[in-house]
Amino acid sequence: MSTRTLIRGGLVITAAEETHADVLIEDGRIAALAAHGSGAAEAWTADRVIDASHKYVIPGGVDAHTHMDFPFGGTFSSDDFETGTRAAAWGGTTTIVDFAVQSRGHALRAGLDAWYAKADGKCAIDYGFHMILSDVNEKSLREMDLLIEEGVTSFKLFTAYPGVFFSDDGQILRAMQKAAGNGGLIMTHAENGLAIDVLVEQALARGETDPRYHGEVRKALLEAEATHRVIKLAQVAGAPVYVVHVSAQEAVAELARARDEGLPVFGETCPQYLFLSTDNLAEPGFEGSKYVCSTPLRPREHQAALWRGLRTNDLQVVSTDHCPFCFVGQKELGRGDFSKIPNGLPGVENRMDLLHQAVVDGHISRRRWIEIACASPARMFGLYGKKGTIAPGADADVVIYDPAAEQVMSADTHHMNVDYSAYEGKHVTGQVETVLSRGEVVIDQRKFTGHAGHGAYVPRGTTQYLG
Ligand code: URP
Ligand code: ZN
Ligand code: ZN
Ligand code: ZN
Repeated sequence: MSTRTLIRGGLVITAAEETHADVLIEDGRIAALAAHGSGAAEAWTADRVIDASHKYVIPGGVDAHTHMDFPFGGTFSSDDFETGTRAAAWGGTTTIVDFAVQSRGHALRAGLDAWYAKADGKCAIDYGFHMILSDVNEKSLREMDLLIEEGVTSFKLFTAYPGVFFSDDGQILRAMQKAAGNGGLIMTHAENGLAIDVLVEQALARGETDPRYHGEVRKALLEAEATHRVIKLAQVAGAPVYVVHVSAQEAVAELARARDEGLPVFGETCPQYLFLSTDNLAEPGFEGSKYVCSTPLRPREHQAALWRGLRTNDLQVVSTDHCPFCFVGQKELGRGDFSKIPNGLPGVENRMDLLHQAVVDGHISRRRWIEIACASPARMFGLYGKKGTIAPGADADVVIYDPAAEQVMSADTHHMNVDYSAYEGKHVTGQVETVLSRGEVVIDQRKFTGHAGHGAYVPRGTTQYLG
């Protein structure tokens, strides 16, 4: 027997248009839309009717960069797939693409299987995987073809973190050549890790151990240099490249220049770079450790270039890079040595709201909000049509969003498994009210009604962003 849900009276916003329309959901998919006043919806019957008057009806968010249960700096990120995806649902995100990790000396297969096992039966919302390549060799290059067949179509390589995830330029070029042939999308963490390690050593030798030095040694120029380099390597390979967590204005300039030349070069930024700055890293009493991530937060002046990049489409996507570590017991590992602070910030629950605040503040339009948070990440990573939009045939991943609600972000009220909020005390206009994941209500007027194991693995196609 089929189940039908009707969402009535709201303003439906997609990347392409805004329409006052009713939305009919049948068996987990969008069945039809009918503009208010057209009369079409009057004949519809439904098992459940959701009143969305004075609310937005938007596609569920697609967060294409999360790290649940992620090993880093001798510890693991504090959200696992259960707590992290539940928090994502609270924040209006209905799909995550997380990073499976290839350990050095091991096959991609082993890494991917370990991440399937971590996520299996735990997720409240749907999930896919990218693969981190930390050991590019003949075997792992061959394995890329197999991963693409099972829906892992994007691969992250690091010019940072020597000895851990780092790949040299030759390895990066070889992975890009492979991607040019098989349709894979190479994602890069672009910072010159070898040069940064020299600056880290020199800073520590001078007794510069506080969190703020994390921002000083990881220089914007070294992000720009690595961004330039991976763009050139991709050009040589004839492959597209997607640069993750762009924070420096100089790096945005590299992306913009390449795109002006017509190259298939893409970039993502994250809310922390748009709303936080080195002022946070400089907070006294080791509070700055809460803001240690890489690429690092930048001086506030960089934010204008990021907002401009989002408006001009030199940056296409906003993801969170959600990688939380508790202050107590985890960030504290780096007391007396900033280089030992685990890198990463919580944010999977905050992204849709912070980007709505950007609409309120006039940085982006409502449709651009949906584009950078839902539609473009879905297209970039081969999910569009199923995810990222509200249209007949799409999965019924839908958020009823109250644009007039006021909220104050806080660790006291958030649902992420971490003991602080990077946005503590921030006033935001707008709030998620109700969330559907494949037609099932997982947040019902700000109550969690979902369950671990509802979320399904989503095999992805190759990028739909080209052409
Ligand atoms: O600081 C960060 N970004 N931690 C997560 C790992 C990465 O580089 O994305
Ligand atoms: Zn990274
Ligand atoms: Zn990351
Ligand atoms: Zn369910």
